[in-house]
Amino acid sequence: MILVTGGAGYIGSHAVLELLLAGNEVLVLDNLCNSSKIALDRVEALTGRKAQFVKGDVRNRSLLNALFASYPVTAVLHFAGLKAVGESVREPLRYYETNVSGSIALCQAMAEAGIFKLVFSSSATVYGDSPKMPITENCPTGLPTNPYGQSKLMAENVLKGLAESDPRWSIALLRYFNPIGAHESGLIGEDPNGTPNNLLPYMLQVAVGRRKQLSIYGADYPTPDGTGVRDYIHVVDLAKGHLKALERLNLVHGVSTWNLGTGRGYSVRQMVTAFEEVIGRRLPHVFKARRPGDIAQCWSDPTKAREELGWQAEKDLLTMLTDAWRWQSRNPQGYAVEQTATGKAEANPETALAS
Ligand code: NAD
Ligand code: WQD
Repeated sequence: MILVTGGAGYIGSHAVLELLLAGNEVLVLDNLCNSSKIALDRVEALTGRKAQFVKGDVRNRSLLNALFASYPVTAVLHFAGLKAVGESVREPLRYYETNVSGSIALCQAMAEAGIFKLVFSSSATVYGDSPKMPITENCPTGLPTNPYGQSKLMAENVLKGLAESDPRWSIALLRYFNPIGAHESGLIGEDPNGTPNNLLPYMLQVAVGRRKQLSIYGADYPTPDGTGVRDYIHVVDLAKGHLKALERLNLVHGVSTWNLGTGRGYSVRQMVTAFEEVIGRRLPHVFKARRPGDIAQCWSDPTKAREELGWQAEKDLLTMLTDAWRWQSRNPQGYAVEQTATGKAEANPETALAS
């Protein structure tokens, strides 16, 4: 059985789907602070298989001990964490406590239960403003410019120290670049709380009428068209990379690091133009000053994952944007539920399943 912390979230729910399709038994632990159980209900509808679900906090040691005593967990995918860069600047301690202390609590409980296979959700943000493009795993980790990025780098260092102290550990640090898109069904996808920090969810909310216009932060970067360049990767490709990493952890001990990206960068202007092709109309947007903390460009060299995991991203930008739009247009309010006459909240299946 695979424990998926944060498994009701954007990437976690897509990973749960792939795990179930591959025949795994799955247990999800999620406190639902940034997600909805509806995502897992829809994963069950898509796969015909049910993941066990426990609502709870990854920082709760006694809960973790109880879970490992009750379920035959053999490995953990650790998605549970806070990820909003702007929020991390306002609430640094909450981010360090969740992303670092939460990871420590999980590892303590895992070790006590004799479980030593862990896949950790890290981020390309740990590279900081890398002078070298494309970025390889041996590029130096920079100085992340915000508590969120710092918390990811701190957690990586904790896991490295842990593995060095105890050879029983097999740990994968997966450094995600920019995950976007949604499962092709349009039933699950990204549903950020509040105002989206990230480009794609903001564009989607403009297109579906929830936001007035996109602000493009900076057109004076040293890039081909002046806007920021990023390595966008389809969330399904990303999810599949986790199954490959789990397989690899059956063969190796210690800490292994892999970039999960496509190896190709797109600028904000290119993203807007491509998205306008998908929706068949202009996307209202204005140009604003650079966003503090942003870097000009960031894209991966995914060679190591291809050679060692036998994994590479397969979906192109058009697919990423088409799948993202299908999700958002069928779920204009994300997983937000409509109150029924009985007052019992439930998803509106008609909207979600509309052709
Ligand atoms: P998400 O917010 O959709 O998913 C995170 C999940 O963890 C949510 O379901 C949330 O309810 C849960 N959670 C948060 N704190 C928890 C706690 N203390 N106990 C239990 N559950 C908790 O975010 P996501 O985009 O799916 O990201 C998943 C992981 O990948 C995060 O660790 C994030 O930092 C990392 N990551 C995300 C991106 C990205 O751009 N989305 C990029 C790199 C890394
Ligand atoms: C992409 C590009 C912006 C929003 C962040 C985190 C990183 C990871 C992924 C968690 C940039 C531009 C954005 C907008 C814009 N998350 N942009 N208008 O900043 O590369 O990475 O998300 O791990 O840690 O730092 O992603 O989507 O915010 O920005 O012009 O409304 O889009 O300037 O060039 P980013 P992003």
